[in-house]
Amino acid sequence: MAQVVAIDGPTAAGKGTLARRLAAELGFAYLDTGLIYRAVAALALALADPPGEAEMLAAAAALTAADLARPGLRTEKIAQWSSRVAAVPAVRAAVKDFQLRFIAAPPDGKPGAVLDGRDIGTVICPDAPAKLFVTASAEARAERRFRELQGRGEPAIYAAVLDDLRDRDRRDSDRAVSPLKPAADAVVLDTTELDAEQAFQKALSIVRGRLAANPKA
Ligand code: DC
Repeated sequence: MAQVVAIDGPTAAGKGTLARRLAAELGFAYLDTGLIYRAVAALALALADPPGEAEMLAAAAALTAADLARPGLRTEKIAQWSSRVAAVPAVRAAVKDFQLRFIAAPPDGKPGAVLDGRDIGTVICPDAPAKLFVTASAEARAERRFRELQGRGEPAIYAAVLDDLRDRDRRDSDRAVSPLKPAADAVVLDTTELDAEQAFQKALSIVRGRLAANPKA
């Protein structure tokens, strides 16, 4: 099996940027697993708005890698629906298979894979040699998301962004299946006081240390 780096954490903690840079630095493939739930939400919404569980399951069963490149997956509407589809056990089972296929044979014959999400270190790949749980205060995450939306020219109100983020945190953490929580053997990286470069350097040194200690994992 390929070497797996598991990056979990709450929404807007900076996991994506970090995971993408780690993958590039290590020469590993990268999979944004949140994008899978977003694509399932988008497919389900195309079937019915609001979608029920039947549409969510049909969407999860029909999902292909090409759907991850659909435009519009980063909207707030898709974000909110993605955390609802992510709470449906049969959706998670279908999405787990998708992720296991990626890990078993990373694209382009890469020797490893970096996956970011909520349950990579706990459920998808509990044997991953390197696990990070990237987090930051809700206020710091809302501030970053707010600036990102402003940078994209999207209208945003900080208080509303913070409320949405807390709603999503609650749904992701309180759900019965695969709730968001650090794996027992994950290193927790709190980025509240770190900029992107500092967070990356810390993450890289932790991951390199873990991979060196588990060369054949
Ligand atoms: O990371 P993101 O915001 O793109 O994730 C979208 C939603 O998908 C998020 O609310 C939680 C869910 N998710 C999950 O349940 N498990 C994962 N491994 C990744 C994302």
